[in-house]
Amino acid sequence: MKKLVVLSGAGISAESGISTFRDNGGLWDNYRIEDVATPEAWLRNQELVLDFYNQRRKQAESVKPNAAHYALAELENHFDVTIITQNVDNLHEVAGSSKVIHLHGELFKSRSTKNPDLVYEMKTWELKTGDLCEEGSQLRPHIVWFGEEVPMMAVAMDITEEADIFLVIGTSLAVYPAAGLVNYVAPGRPIFIVDPAQPEISLKKNMTFIQEKATTGMDSLIKKYLLPDN
Ligand code: APR
Repeated sequence: MKKLVVLSGAGISAESGISTFRDNGGLWDNYRIEDVATPEAWLRNQELVLDFYNQRRKQAESVKPNAAHYALAELENHFDVTIITQNVDNLHEVAGSSKVIHLHGELFKSRSTKNPDLVYEMKTWELKTGDLCEEGSQLRPHIVWFGEEVPMMAVAMDITEEADIFLVIGTSLAVYPAAGLVNYVAPGRPIFIVDPAQPEISLKKNMTFIQEKATTGMDSLIKKYLLPDN
């Protein structure tokens, strides 16, 4: 089976009702990154950071995957699919995708502030001060904050280098190192981009830009390019 590697961003979850970051009204219109998504923010105002992610977890609990998530899961019947997502929601997994790499962490997991190997599934949406790991230290959101290492990046680069087909869906390609993955696609391999707006990338001859939202764009991608004979 051909290897289809997908880089997804907040845009694929937009039609499920989860706001993106940089569209009008997006998360960064309402919060400053330096107040809620950096290690310094955590040290300066732990309650504000905990509340920011509690609100996002509470919202994410009530949303469902959309047709784009399901289309990617279904493509596993035709391709060896790996999803590299910048999203921290679990909609790819809920839709049935079996190989999902979270570059920026996972909203429904918490992590020890003392021992980063201690990661816990969260049973409820709320993480509070006083919620401690088994070694007695405060739990934090299992999220990669700005300025922190992206532990899964090396794995993501290796997988991207092996891609026969690369799909970029719903990301502005504004944040590195994630956005740099496009440069690890082997020369000449096709790159498809699904987004209502052109991300921050200059289109090269091996790139096909499908200027549509995720749900209809996936439909066009599959019918015209991935499975034209189906
Ligand atoms: N379908 C597809 N794409 C969409 C849709 C939609 N319905 N609606 C919006 N988009 C596109 C926008 O045009 C934009 O290109 O989704 C992208 C959203 O971009 P961002 O808000 O920047 O989200 P993302 O690219 O995932 O951000 C990357 O930045 O803040 C950090 O850690 C955060 O993982 C995030 C990273």
